[in-house]
Amino acid sequence: MERQLEPELMEDPDQVEAYARADFSVPHNDFIERIRSFVGRPDFNGSALDLGCGPGDVTFRFARAFPSCRIDAVDGSRPMIERARASAGGLAQRIRFIHGRLPFVTLPQQNYEIIFSNSLLHHLPDPQILWRSIKTHSRPGTQVAVMDLLRPDSIETARSLVKTYAGEELDILQRDFYHSLLAAFSLEEIKAQLIRADLKLNPEQISDRHVFIKGIL
Ligand SMILES: C[S@@+](CC[C@H](N)C(=O)[O-])C[C@H]1O[C@@H](n2cnc3c(N)ncnc32)[C@H](O)[C@@H]1O
Repeated sequence: MERQLEPELMEDPDQVEAYARADFSVPHNDFIERIRSFVGRPDFNGSALDLGCGPGDVTFRFARAFPSCRIDAVDGSRPMIERARASAGGLAQRIRFIHGRLPFVTLPQQNYEIIFSNSLLHHLPDPQILWRSIKTHSRPGTQVAVMDLLRPDSIETARSLVKTYAGEELDILQRDFYHSLLAAFSLEEIKAQLIRADLKLNPEQISDRHVFIKGIL
């Protein structure tokens, strides 16, 4: 099945609110647990970068998993960043939410010890924007962890995944999930992107719909 692009930024206020209220605890906790075992340093007290942070749910979970770290979290959607800032509570002291679109945004730091990103890749018309951003903001030893959806083989499989994992959710969330599945990349496409970017990261299919990509630069 060919990739079908979805709008890059999530800027519609209803869409932002529905996304922010949705329960992503299972995949997001799984992502954080994978990062935790990959990083291997619960006392990590350096700086991390979250690319495409949305309303901040993954950012907050990362901040709680590494209570001494600082995070810069960036998103191109102003409503998303405002929603994230409004939800930060006590974590706001350790997180800077930055409104800006990759690759044009200027970040407060040139490089980071950990770079993570969940569900940004499939939004990008050009996937190299993510891989180049990671290269630009890394240094030797930077640990990278990316999770995203994988594009199913057919429309029928996409519909079935929506029914299985979002069947009880609001229509707007079901619609977004369906379009995200169609916009996602295959494992083979991601492997080719990483070779083209000259990034030695390891992509692994971890469920019927997710890929986890990790490595030390
Ligand atoms: C599906 S959401 C994922 C949000 C969050 N990482 C999470 O896992 O809940 C994708 C986010 O990427 C943002 N985005 C898309 N293209 C972007 C770009 N070029 N630069 C920065 N953010 C972008 C969208 O606005 C949206 O908030």
